[in-house]
Amino acid sequence: MISDNIVIIAKKEIYSVKNIKDLNILKIKYLGKKGYITKQFLLIKTLNKEEKINKSIIINKQKKQIQKIIIKRKKEIELDKYDEKILNQKIDISLPGKYIEIGSEHPIKSIIYEIEEFFTQIGFKIVIGPEIEDVYHNFDALNISKNHPIRTEKDTFWLNKNTLLRTQTSNIQIRIMKKSKPPIRILTSGKVYRNDYDSNHTPMFHQIEGLFIDKKVTFSDLKGILILFLNYFFGKKCKIRFRPSYFPFTEPSLEVDILNNNQQWIEILGAGMVHPNVLKNVQINTSRYYGFAFGLGVERLAMLRYNINDIRLFYENDIRFLKQFKFNNFI
Ligand code: PHE
Repeated sequence: MISDNIVIIAKKEIYSVKNIKDLNILKIKYLGKKGYITKQFLLIKTLNKEEKINKSIIINKQKKQIQKIIIKRKKEIELDKYDEKILNQKIDISLPGKYIEIGSEHPIKSIIYEIEEFFTQIGFKIVIGPEIEDVYHNFDALNISKNHPIRTEKDTFWLNKNTLLRTQTSNIQIRIMKKSKPPIRILTSGKVYRNDYDSNHTPMFHQIEGLFIDKKVTFSDLKGILILFLNYFFGKKCKIRFRPSYFPFTEPSLEVDILNNNQQWIEILGAGMVHPNVLKNVQINTSRYYGFAFGLGVERLAMLRYNINDIRLFYENDIRFLKQFKFNNFI
């Protein structure tokens, strides 16, 4: 009735299956509610007590053995499956690798670095300041009258009554002069914002601002430094024009134009001797100290250097445009 070699038969069968689904079918066949082992227990019910004990010991042993075999086989099948998966994932080392293109510096950023390099070599210190500014630092302290048109919404992006996106990097002049004593020689760069949009203007653009305050700073120092810088940046052959101008925070003031390839004069910077009212606003003694300041339009410099006729190209992120400046890479 109870076959001793049932374990051998079961083992053979269990080892012939190749997947978990079939293994489960066998598990039910041998160990399930209506399976072989359960049936054996039912069959010995009619035997006398002693025989019942003996047989049930045997059946229990068989049950344990079959359970063990099933567990072992399950592990094997799982392992085989895993091996198969790994094998299928085999790396083909003859395949060409993925090419990851290295980005490059934006032309505006590299021009800023280049200009910073020039000015640090002649003793200017690089500083930075906020783009979100208050009325005092962007206008009042710079001697810009209360009714100056630049203050209107037509030109300035106001965040609230007292806060705005700075319209110029000249705000940094005030911030630096307020917290440091002359001599001062700083250069700052960053984004500025004005409500303008055409081929020569974007609402956000970059300026570089220099400030030099000391005892014997003259207008000719300013001109000399600007000429030195423009020769460094554009080469000695470039045509430079100095033009008298007006800024509320400098007196006298000037603007500099550069002759482009189409023989047009392009304005690139504003400058002048810092206005005594500005120095007074930041508690600098106007009988002892003088200074000059200048503000450069970075996009204009880039347009002139690379012969670009539309400023908006810098910010459209067209990869074909940007790729042309790859030579500026550090790597
Ligand atoms: N802030 C001026 C502008 O945005 C430029 C400037 C800076 C002029 C410093 C004089 C001195 O046009």
